[in-house]
Amino acid sequence: MHNQAKLIAILSEGGFHSGEVLGARLGVSRTAVWKTIKKLSEFGLDIHSVRGKGYRLSHAIELLDAGRILKETGEKLQPRIAEIDVFLTRSSTNAYLMAKASPEPDKGYVCFAEMQTEGRGRRGRQWVSPFGENLYLSILWQFPADPQMLSGLGLALSVAIVRALDELGVHDIGLKWPNDVIWDKRKLAGILVEMVAESTGPCRVVMGVGLNINFQSSASQQIDQPWVDLRTILGRTPSRNKIAGVVLRHLLNVILLYEQRGLAPFLDEWRSHDAYKGQQVDILMYKNNISGICEGIDNMGALQVRAGNGPMQKFTSGEISLRGRPAPEH
Ligand code: BTN
Repeated sequence: MHNQAKLIAILSEGGFHSGEVLGARLGVSRTAVWKTIKKLSEFGLDIHSVRGKGYRLSHAIELLDAGRILKETGEKLQPRIAEIDVFLTRSSTNAYLMAKASPEPDKGYVCFAEMQTEGRGRRGRQWVSPFGENLYLSILWQFPADPQMLSGLGLALSVAIVRALDELGVHDIGLKWPNDVIWDKRKLAGILVEMVAESTGPCRVVMGVGLNINFQSSASQQIDQPWVDLRTILGRTPSRNKIAGVVLRHLLNVILLYEQRGLAPFLDEWRSHDAYKGQQVDILMYKNNISGICEGIDNMGALQVRAGNGPMQKFTSGEISLRGRPAPEH
């Protein structure tokens, strides 16, 4: 384990630890300990330093661990994972995997980060990603299909998150087209699908998921829309490694089925969680907005909206907001 991770693990035991004791446990000098502490503070960790006592972490952090995550994901799926990386920090797990070469067919590269300095959201937004509080995960997969066949992938992935949350004890999940996972009209998780399509042949796709687990830091103040985390919903915080493993298992299972059959096997489930069907909404597109009644998704995953007595309109991109409620800025 990297010294930074080791230090977090030791400080997570609780209480104060002197520089001398930390140095002995890590096998480094006190100056090296001090430098590592400084680096961790730059990550946003709240480390108290008291003269004569040493260093203390304000709250314990359960770091992500590839072995524990894989155990939770289950043996059956291990042959589908070409590589799994857990980083303390990345600019963006999506960006990291976008720059990687394709994995072999039917296998994915998986990447988690404890924090992201430039976490990406949909429509060019920032995804606020403080250290050790939430889940930031991406999977790189090579799909044999043409890019058009992938238009419903984000919707299918949101079904994977619903299933994972159900297994973790969260049952009243809503979906907001195209792939926001919400609870009580507040955002709990988001999905960002990015792809590099070759003109012919396979399509490299990076699927990123951000799931709010336990927002503690002031970073949450940067979020410009109503949000919620698992701790608020459940009144406790489940193990981050368990959450990571369960989410990864459901994502991989959905990817494998999507590859074979597309969106069809997920349509009913998506529709049963549709939080906006029948509501008066505004559809925000880059240039113009349209208002109407939300009529759910068609079999391709496009959003259907009827304005007044007019014909049904279909949207394959854009964003919904409830009538009268402004959408987040971007
Ligand atoms: C959204 O706007 O709803 C999509 C948010 C996606 C965030 C995740 S966090 C892991 C992955 N890496 C990123 O930079 N973004 C995605």
